[in-house]
Amino acid sequence: MEQAKATRLIVGITGATGTIFGVRLLQMLHGSGVETHLVMSKWGMRTLTHETSHTVKEVEELATRSYGVTDQSAAISSGSFVTLGMVIAPCSMRTVAAIAHGLGDNLIHRAADVILKERRRLVLLVRESPFNEIHLENMLKLARMGVTILPPVPAFYNNPQNLDDMINHITMRVIDQFDIHLDVMNRWDGVLLDQKRSDKED
Ligand SMILES: Cc1cc2nc3c(=O)[nH]c(=O)nc-3n(C[C@H](O)[C@H](O)[C@H](O)COP(=O)(O)O)c2cc1C
Repeated sequence: MEQAKATRLIVGITGATGTIFGVRLLQMLHGSGVETHLVMSKWGMRTLTHETSHTVKEVEELATRSYGVTDQSAAISSGSFVTLGMVIAPCSMRTVAAIAHGLGDNLIHRAADVILKERRRLVLLVRESPFNEIHLENMLKLARMGVTILPPVPAFYNNPQNLDDMINHITMRVIDQFDIHLDVMNRWDGVLLDQKRSDKED
């Protein structure tokens, strides 16, 4: 009998700007030994083709398996399908609201609901700006349930040279959330850059 695998990660891509984060996550995990189970919403697909040069098919091919958003009978719809958890990158405010209110009306919402009932890890790269009170209340409700609210906000302390560096750094930190540590970018080593420069000069 095949043993249930705990090296599976569910990846959702919804219709918020920043679909490149979902793509980069799949690229980083490709060949890493972690199975990726992808589901994209209709507006996730539309936003992807609007703001990146990737096709839906290319992105689906990066994943180990991909499912249609209306396929409620997919494996990821059941808690008996063992996973490390789920990441939604990016996560629209509509999807945040659906998860916060337990609506299982598409496969992304249902899979997230299952993650919550099974007490597995759920990481949301929420994206909207500015936030209204509804957004904030929904996020607070989810955070109190143990969900990681991780807006894709760039860091500057690691001295990014371009947009790709920023995307890679954020995506590496998302993957860290699942105790998978891919050292694709420099991590903070406690030394400030001006200190490093002056050490070199000495
Ligand atoms: C180009 C584009 C960018 C969008 N950006 C955002 C966004 O950053 N955050 C958000 O909550 N909705 C955004 N939306 C609106 C969502 O796509 C819309 O609310 C949709 O119904 C979300 O559905 P989904 O969560 O099933 O993907 C955007 C829509 C488009 C077309």
